[in-house]
Amino acid sequence: MHLQEHRLRQAVQGKSILITGASSGIGRDTALLLARYGAQLIIIGRNEERLREVALQTGARMYVMDLREEKNRQQLCQEIEQLDIFINNAGLSIHRSIYDSLERAHDFTRTMGINYFAPVELMLHFIPLLDAAQGQIVNVSTINTKFRPMAKWSAYQASKAAFDTWLRAVAPEVKHTVSTIYLPLVRTPMIAPTKKYERVPAMSSETAAKRIARLLYTKKKEDKPWWLSFIRFVRS
Ligand SMILES: NC(=O)c1ccc[n+]([C@@H]2O[C@H](COP(=O)([O-])OP(=O)(O)OC[C@H]3O[C@@H](n4cnc5c(N)ncnc54)[C@H](OP(=O)(O)O)[C@@H]3O)[C@@H](O)[C@H]2O)c1
Repeated sequence: MHLQEHRLRQAVQGKSILITGASSGIGRDTALLLARYGAQLIIIGRNEERLREVALQTGARMYVMDLREEKNRQQLCQEIEQLDIFINNAGLSIHRSIYDSLERAHDFTRTMGINYFAPVELMLHFIPLLDAAQGQIVNVSTINTKFRPMAKWSAYQASKAAFDTWLRAVAPEVKHTVSTIYLPLVRTPMIAPTKKYERVPAMSSETAAKRIARLLYTKKKEDKPWWLSFIRFVRS
């Protein structure tokens, strides 16, 4: 995928960019890419060793924390007083039959915790900062939110759709750019536990990172695979 490097540098150089979930997969590759164009990064994740490795390579300020914990979100919000770009990427995916979930109510609180409540609460703090900077949020979403509800994906699909709906409702009100990337399957640690995905074609996390970076200079509201409109199960 081709990037207009000059435009990307203009969009991110010296800018304060927060990436949640930068210890792995798409968030990690986005951090590595944006650092090469001069971004001032703030990165978040729970795994200290992996996050530190990304911080060392990018010069990022890092916060090792579980974003589902309210006290952690409060600490972050107290310490971040200026922000140009928020890349909401941290996420948890669960693929499980409802009959295997009957005694696992935590599957639903955990997915809603990181995929919905954490970004909503962060945004309540960041909206004035992003408005003041005439900045941008990029939400890393999934094509699943465009599909009809799918068996075994209730926890993930409902929680990703919840934040997608919230952000689409908020977008017309706020004074900064709101962009969403609807990604197809991406080869990251997230999909590793799902055996059937081993033989299915998937986007690389480097390409996903480039598509996120492209949104930072095009300022488009949406990025989604061109073929999505032709899929039978699409609902919106
Ligand atoms: N892979 C795909 O096929 C695919 C497709 C469409 C959309 N997406 C979306 O892309 C985003 C990134 O996923 P990925 O594929 O790159 O997965 P990944 O490699 O598993 O990365 C997920 C990231 O989120 C962080 N994270 C998870 N829970 C957290 C918590 N409670 N607090 C703080 N950080 C947390 C993880 O860090 P720690 O483990 O260090 O906490 C990790 O850095 C997700 O929002 C996902 O829904 C992925």
